Amino acid sequence: MKIAIGNDHAAVEEKQAVVSALQALGHEVSNFGTDTFDSTDYPDYAAAVAKAVAKHDVDLGILICGTGIGMSIAANKVCGIRAALCHSALTAAKSREHNDANILCCGARVIDLATIQEAVKAFITTPFAAGRHARRVQKMMDLEAQCDQ
Ligand code: RB5
Repeated sequence: MKIAIGNDHAAVEEKQAVVSALQALGHEVSNFGTDTFDSTDYPDYAAAVAKAVAKHDVDLGILICGTGIGMSIAANKVCGIRAALCHSALTAAKSREHNDANILCCGARVIDLATIQEAVKAFITTPFAAGRHARRVQKMMDLEAQCDQ
């Protein structure tokens, strides 16, 4: 699987650990995040990852900041993105199964690294269930077209 990952200064070590785990599983990871602790702006990384996902350059995206909130708000501004802020393997799995989320957002100051790794694993291994969920996802995506109205 091709995966784009991004982070700000609040999640450097967590991002690096997730990249290592994904690469060990054989995934191709594109790192759009920062690798220093210098203060940065999370929307820059959210935009880079979201655009890679929206263009289908990668299969899925992962964004980690302090809370995951800023990353999720920013990523969801990009057309075609369904970024889900998750705090557990359960919410990450459900975001794929029910919402067809294409970006996982986590907060490194909110959940520990082990939980982030579990959420990532659940996110990349859980398929979209489609069926009745497809209708609901389509209704969400229809909202994008109404932005200018
Ligand atoms: C950075 O201090 C922090 O605001 C950021 O990592 C994130 O939590 C924003 O939502």
